[in-house]
Amino acid sequence: MTSEKTPAKKDNSEKDLVRLNKLLAERGLASRRGADKLIAEGLVMVNGKKVYELGIKVNPNKDKILVDGKPIKSKSQNIYVMFNKPKNVITSMNDPLERPTVADFVADLPARVFPIGRLDWDSEGLLLLTNDGEFAQKVMHPKTEVTKTYHVKLEGQPQLYQIKKLLTGVSIPGGRVKAKHVEKLKPIKAAGKKTSDKNDWYKIVITEGKNHQVREMFKKIGFDVLKLHRVAIGKLRIGQLGRGEMVFLNEAATQRVFLPDLPEETHGRRDVRHKSKRVKDEELTRKKFDKALDKK
Ligand code: URA
Repeated sequence: MTSEKTPAKKDNSEKDLVRLNKLLAERGLASRRGADKLIAEGLVMVNGKKVYELGIKVNPNKDKILVDGKPIKSKSQNIYVMFNKPKNVITSMNDPLERPTVADFVADLPARVFPIGRLDWDSEGLLLLTNDGEFAQKVMHPKTEVTKTYHVKLEGQPQLYQIKKLLTGVSIPGGRVKAKHVEKLKPIKAAGKKTSDKNDWYKIVITEGKNHQVREMFKKIGFDVLKLHRVAIGKLRIGQLGRGEMVFLNEAATQRVFLPDLPEETHGRRDVRHKSKRVKDEELTRKKFDKALDKK
């Protein structure tokens, strides 16, 4: 074991050294960021000693590495799963409060997997799970700009100028964010259910991944999100996969995640589509709204 500050003597084994977080990610324990958390929390031991240093390097062939008291597994085959998370399920592999978690759904998989990113307790839809930390890292890295597409039901009916704010940018807890695309959806008439014209449905595409981002964005323009479904990550779409169901993804399917899912005309720019007509005094209202927003 060695650290970046005190590099190992140059010997034959130096080429075998790898960063501990990278190794833990490769062995399916977490994403690289998740592995850093395990290290920082003192859950990782190398050769009998707890390690806290994030840049530390180890020799996987020689060093004895335990995570939470258990030896790390030898490299297993990578698996990739697309899961349709129902609402009232936590995106976590364990919950101290013993609420339902995604772990309850993946117990029979041939390898231990972890979720890539998260959906809120009351959100549903596409969640990826894998034991490939490098893949997870790439999907979540802000530079990769993976598009995430959501369908949301709103408490109310926003005006076009309000929706446009989502595209020019809003400040939410966690930073300033912009939608890549926003589009009003036609109400779907479910059998036996009334459609309400008080609740608009919107499609929103984002690339950032802040906490509760979509809910916070709509809240910022004055609308609560009543329902939130993630329908796609990149061009990997949930399609007809039922709630609580999952499918294994092959290599080609995993690569669809990195294809941006934006309408042709929005490539390289931001776009809004809306059915409403421009109201005469829209400019005036927008100015008032912008002022109020700045004060928030
Ligand atoms: N944005 C949210 O607000 N919630 C989710 O679950 C996902 C994205």
